[in-house]
Amino acid sequence: MQKWSFSLPTSFRDLYMRLTLLGFCFLYSSLVTGAQAECPLQLNPQRVVVRYGDSVEVNCNTSVPHKGMGWEADEGRVSKNQSQNLITWRVSNLTEWDIKPICFINPNDRRQCQVELPVTVYKTPDSVFISTVNHRGPMMEGQQYELQCDVHNVAPVEYLTVKWYKGQTLLNQTTFPNTSKTPENKTVTLLIRPDRADDGAEYWCEAELDLGADGPQPHPNISSDPLSIAVYYKPKINETKLPSVVRVFRGYAEVLVCEADGNPKPTISWSVSSNDNKNSETLNITESTPENVSCTANNIVGSTTKQVKVSIQDISISFVNHKGELIVGTQYELQCIIRNVDPSKSVVVRWYKLSQTSSPDTNKTLVSSASNLQISPSKTDDGAQYWCEAGLEAVGTQPYPTLSSERLNITVHYKPIINELKLPSTVPVFRGYPEVLVCEAEGNPKPTILWSLGANEIKKSETLIITESTPENVSCIANNSVDSTTRHVKVVLKEDYLPLIAGLIAVIVAFISVIFIFIYSIYYKTAKMGHYSLKDAKPSAQNGNVAQNGKHNPIPMKKLSQSSILA
Ligand SMILES: *[C@@H]1O[C@H](CO)[C@@H](O)[C@H](O)[C@H]1NC(C)=O
Ligand SMILES: *[C@@H]1O[C@H](CO)[C@@H](O)[C@H](O)[C@H]1NC(C)=O
Ligand SMILES: *[C@@H]1O[C@H](CO)[C@@H](O)[C@H](O)[C@H]1NC(C)=O
Ligand SMILES: *[C@@H]1O[C@H](CO)[C@@H](O)[C@H](O)[C@H]1NC(C)=O
Ligand SMILES: *[C@@H]1O[C@H](CO)[C@@H](O)[C@H](O)[C@H]1NC(C)=O
Ligand SMILES: *[C@@H]1O[C@H](CO)[C@@H](O)[C@H](O)[C@H]1NC(C)=O
Ligand SMILES: *[C@@H]1O[C@H](CO)[C@@H](O)[C@H](O)[C@H]1NC(C)=O
Ligand SMILES: *[C@@H]1O[C@H](CO)[C@@H](O)[C@H](O)[C@H]1NC(C)=O
Ligand SMILES: *[C@@H]1O[C@H](CO)[C@@H](O)[C@H](O)[C@H]1NC(C)=O
Ligand SMILES: *[C@@H]1O[C@H](CO)[C@@H](O)[C@H](O)[C@H]1NC(C)=O
Ligand SMILES: *[C@@H]1O[C@H](CO)[C@@H](O)[C@H](O)[C@H]1NC(C)=O
Ligand SMILES: *[C@@H]1O[C@H](CO)[C@@H](O)[C@H](O)[C@H]1NC(C)=O
Repeated sequence: MQKWSFSLPTSFRDLYMRLTLLGFCFLYSSLVTGAQAECPLQLNPQRVVVRYGDSVEVNCNTSVPHKGMGWEADEGRVSKNQSQNLITWRVSNLTEWDIKPICFINPNDRRQCQVELPVTVYKTPDSVFISTVNHRGPMMEGQQYELQCDVHNVAPVEYLTVKWYKGQTLLNQTTFPNTSKTPENKTVTLLIRPDRADDGAEYWCEAELDLGADGPQPHPNISSDPLSIAVYYKPKINETKLPSVVRVFRGYAEVLVCEADGNPKPTISWSVSSNDNKNSETLNITESTPENVSCTANNIVGSTTKQVKVSIQDISISFVNHKGELIVGTQYELQCIIRNVDPSKSVVVRWYKLSQTSSPDTNKTLVSSASNLQISPSKTDDGAQYWCEAGLEAVGTQPYPTLSSERLNITVHYKPIINELKLPSTVPVFRGYPEVLVCEAEGNPKPTILWSLGANEIKKSETLIITESTPENVSCIANNSVDSTTRHVKVVLKEDYLPLIAGLIAVIVAFISVIFIFIYSIYYKTAKMGHYSLKDAKPSAQNGNVAQNGKHNPIPMKKLSQSSILA
């Protein structure tokens, strides 16, 4: 460095004037150019930011007369020159990290002064490298991991910012204390606790040099390659698709879907009962499915189980306070019970009856829509079927299912009814002519028939043969589990007048015959006398026969007497 030489002022007043001027100048300059202004030198530019190895040029000029000015620097030194007002510090390949060029001047009227050029030599990193610390492979959800970013060979670290990104999101950034101007290696770490959403996320880091307004724009930056992380997590069952309570209508199979999100992809299994497991996402639910089933989603991280309560919606028909067969004339109440129906759903109950007497394909008849049904069966209702149906609102994909109860077969019992047409209350019986009485009775169950002949004679049969020895009062008793019916029969013994009447009729017939023959014979005689000539001319067949017998004289009287004897 040039030694300064002291030149005495010409006069004290002059010095005072100059100092005052200088003071103003200083005041003015300090507002415009800063601290160096006391020295009458101007640097252009006033500071430089240079990439290591790049070229640089800075002018230093003055407007005051001087005995020489120059640049003092480790590189690009410019020796003192008296004839120039502007000298240039010029380096084509700046390879000095901590360079401090100084422009100096030896003004004619003053001591030597100097201005230092602030130079920032920077170097972008050779590489920026991201890695995980002490870990390889997939990460587990919820655990903490450390990411590391290595920035190689960057200077000056004073201006370095290392930024962490996940995707496009800035996570954190680190700056460094002012240490050295030469290149350094810097390592930054980031703690992460990834969740399932981070599976496949890309982390990366970026080294940025913010060299201020004089530095290059945009800021030089180097990014690492992205680090894609795999996050393993425990399965989570989709509760929207698989509610805790599933209502299933009897007769309408339902398919449950167990979907689980997990990494690695979980295996799904349904546990229906302790020894029945199905390795499938879907489970068909029918009325035979147990009440409690569960779905388990399993992977290497863990397993998740969801219990599902299967509520079979059921309908049943039954009597209120009654069991067994019905008796004609009594009133009964039927009820339709619907279980497990969602209380918020409205249900319409219909009652149907199918009679035994109707042909099999006869349509069912709607009996009632009330929830209970009063019936008063008649005997023709035996074997009829009753059932109830419940119409429900739509569930899931199945529209408006109708639940139908099982069919209730009714048995109607009634007391025996004796057929009175076949068994009159008074029966005449003729002596010597036994008569059969038939006691027929219908009833359910089929009645047993007894004949009661007096105080202690019982005959177990439908028919009773009555003779003259039968007591006057008999009764038929038809009996079944419902009741017994008795019919009293009066047996009236009658004499047998038939041979008498027959004899009488025979006598009357004989008598009439005698009279007739008598009348005929008289008439015949009269006709023979009146038409004698005619007899020979026209022989009758009878006469011929008579002639063959060799007898000419008719003998009707004899014949008549013979027939009379026969009669
Ligand atoms: C340096 O030169 C510029 C023009 O190139 C001029 O405007 C400026 O005033 C000069 N500085 C000094 C201190 O003379
Ligand atoms: C000063 O600069 C001029 C012009 O560049 C040059 O001709 C002269 O040789 C220089 N003087 C010295 C002492 O270097
Ligand atoms: C700058 O200098 C360095 C070493 O001094 C050398 O390796 C490099 O090639 C030079 N660059 C230029 C552009 O001359
Ligand atoms: C950012 O990193 C610094 C250390 O470089 C740490 O102290 C700070 O807690 C981090 N901030 C966040 C949000 O991670
Ligand atoms: C950085 O260090 C240099 C000396 O090494 C010092 O001149 C400068 O003021 C420091 N800057 C900060 C911001 O500490
Ligand atoms: C920076 O790291 C590189 C490679 O690991 C090494 O060669 C170099 O010496 C390191 N520099 C410093 C200043 O530690
Ligand atoms: C990083 O550098 C690129 C050019 O290489 C530039 O487009 C980008 O804006 C820079 N990023 C930042 C944050 O400065
Ligand atoms: C669960 O299932 C529903 C219905 O299919 C679907 O909208 C939802 O996105 C699923 N949720 C998850 C976490 O997969
Ligand atoms: C479930 O039921 C559907 C039809 O209801 C049938 O296609 C399917 O094969 C059944 N799946 C199983 C596992 O039984
Ligand atoms: C089903 O689970 C419930 C509660 O977990 C329990 O109260 C009930 O007894 C279980 N039913 C059967 C049939 O195991
Ligand atoms: C009886 O059912 C048949 C179909 O099975 C239907 O066509 C007919 O209209 C029904 N009759 C009555 C009276 O409902
Ligand atoms: C009701 O009777 C029908 C035939 O009439 C029969 O097929 C059915 O099994 C009976 N039901 C019950 C519950 O006894």
